[in-house]
Amino acid sequence: MTRLTWLGVLLALGCGRLSTPDRAPDEGPREATLFVFSDLRGTLKPCGCSPDLRRGGVDRVAEVLRLARASAAGAPVLHAGDLLLDDEGIPDFLRPQIDAKTTAVGEALRFMGVAAATVGPSDLQQPEWLAKALPGVGIPIIVTNPPPTAPWVAGTRRSIVLDVRGVKVGVLGLIPEASGGSPPGPAARAEADALRQGGAVLIVALSSLGLRGAKRTLREGLGVDVLVAAGQGLDAIVSDEVEPLGPGGAPTYLVQSFVQGGQVGRLEVVMTGGPLAAEFPGEPAPKGSSTLRWSLTPVGWDLPREPTIASLMDRFDADLEQINMATASDPVPPAAGEAGYVGVEKCLECHEETRAFWEKDRHHDAWETIVEDKKTFDIYCVSCHVTGFMRPGGSSIKKLDGLHDVQCESCHGPGSLHAESSEAAHIQREVPESTCRTCHNPKHSTRFDYDAYKKRLLVPGHGLGD
Ligand code: HEC
Ligand code: HEC
Ligand code: HEC
Ligand code: HEC
Repeated sequence: MTRLTWLGVLLALGCGRLSTPDRAPDEGPREATLFVFSDLRGTLKPCGCSPDLRRGGVDRVAEVLRLARASAAGAPVLHAGDLLLDDEGIPDFLRPQIDAKTTAVGEALRFMGVAAATVGPSDLQQPEWLAKALPGVGIPIIVTNPPPTAPWVAGTRRSIVLDVRGVKVGVLGLIPEASGGSPPGPAARAEADALRQGGAVLIVALSSLGLRGAKRTLREGLGVDVLVAAGQGLDAIVSDEVEPLGPGGAPTYLVQSFVQGGQVGRLEVVMTGGPLAAEFPGEPAPKGSSTLRWSLTPVGWDLPREPTIASLMDRFDADLEQINMATASDPVPPAAGEAGYVGVEKCLECHEETRAFWEKDRHHDAWETIVEDKKTFDIYCVSCHVTGFMRPGGSSIKKLDGLHDVQCESCHGPGSLHAESSEAAHIQREVPESTCRTCHNPKHSTRFDYDAYKKRLLVPGHGLGD
């Protein structure tokens, strides 16, 4: 039976008929497609600081979905893992910006038609904030194993059932016990049983348990068919293998996808009434079984941006000027006897020998980089792409005064006293790894290696004699 006539049959049968898993033998297999992405972590667009971070973003996720839906009309979109925040949480100086971004993320999720999402450890570190944020996000948030009490639980539900072309799909959401969740195994088994009794033929668990946590939980048996294991590192090589895990007979199929919307997973099932089996390329599932296929589409920056979401992102960038200028404070002045920042032009007055180095150095263009990205009012980006951000006697978004770019004093420390005295004692010659790491952290400089990176700074006129 072709898909089209099958759809006709489903319509003729009506919904009541569809809820029974046992079907007459003349009914053909039911096909359903679901899309999944993971660990958005409140990212409208990843920073792109390192080459492996140049993928993902809600505008391109939406474009991938738009293209994919051409062959899978009505397929729901699910999200696993941390939804709104990353592990840095909500530093005070970013609070107004994060609140505005959460509104924009919610708009994007609703536009994409996300049918269910769970939350993760970073979201859950901010229980009061999360309770306020979830209603505004406006999509169903699923947590099957919530803590007995937490302010955000009221904004969630234990499960949701989606009707995907006549296939009733039960969706669970699992959070780690370390984040306050009740033990995921018992909660999932009980909820899955109830959903199956209500007619669900496929149970998908969205998790934020991490890969190891998900595997450990699966070994004791979860009673679900598919588990999406979110929570990968930024530098992870995500496997597209479908891995059967759990007690024999009825395993759970574990699938993974990349963080920050870097990939969109496509889950295709054909339900025949037989037991579920995964199909691998060149390895068909046993005859008569229901089958499951998983594939990942990379969300590359060579794709066009989906226009509606692109314009909401551009609006967010433009709004940041007002949001952040209204609340930004000036940097505090240096304490008595301490140095403040004077800027590279002052240094070059006496260190002409470093000019050729400076003009070629990548740090010289750090501000231009975020000008091109229209991020000069995004305090998060600005904090690492300028000199002395919010340090005593340094810069702020209100007061940059020649401290654009990552200048001499980002590495050698504030130099006002040295610029007056010319004394070596007033400036740091050596730059420890910890100084570089304030900016070259694993989230922005995925391949940072102190010795190799430092070597690139040492040239004639700067550290290598003349
Ligand atoms: C924690 C510090 C930090 C933050 C925050 C940060 N960056 Fe960066 N950025 C870096 C570092 C360090 C590099 C260089 C990484 C490398 O090459 O290893 C970089 C490089 C880049 C580059 C690549 C430049 C090139 O041409 O090679 C872009 C683009 C960029 N950042 C944009 C952004 C944007 C946009 C934001 C805000 C969303 C941002 N950055 C936030 C530290 C940061
Ligand atoms: C008024 C001139 C003058 C200005 C302005 C100046 N320097 Fe210097 N700097 C010197 C002199 C002279 C030395 C050599 C001191 C010595 O060896 O006793 C020096 C040495 C240094 C050293 C090496 C220190 C050491 O322990 O060997 C560094 C690093 C340095 N300067 C960085 C800077 C930076 C960064 C700035 C801008 C904030 C700057 N300088 C501004 C005159 C200046
Ligand atoms: C205040 C933040 C900051 C500090 C401190 C910092 N960097 Fe950077 N670094 C950046 C940014 C931002 C870029 C990317 C500039 C751009 O192209 O926009 C960068 C780029 C680089 C690059 C070029 C990388 C590439 O892909 O071409 C090297 C090398 C580098 N940094 C080495 C270092 C070393 C070594 C230290 C410590 C001695 C250091 N940086 C300290 C922010 C910083
Ligand atoms: C990204 C970090 C970084 C930036 C930016 C940077 N330097 Fe350096 N600088 C270093 C490192 C690392 C060394 C080597 C220190 C050592 O000897 O281990 C160094 C060495 C020096 C020395 C000693 C050179 C020698 O041969 O003895 C001077 C002087 C100096 N820098 C001045 C400057 C000035 C002036 C600027 C701005 C125009 C600047 N540096 C920008 C990291 C930086």
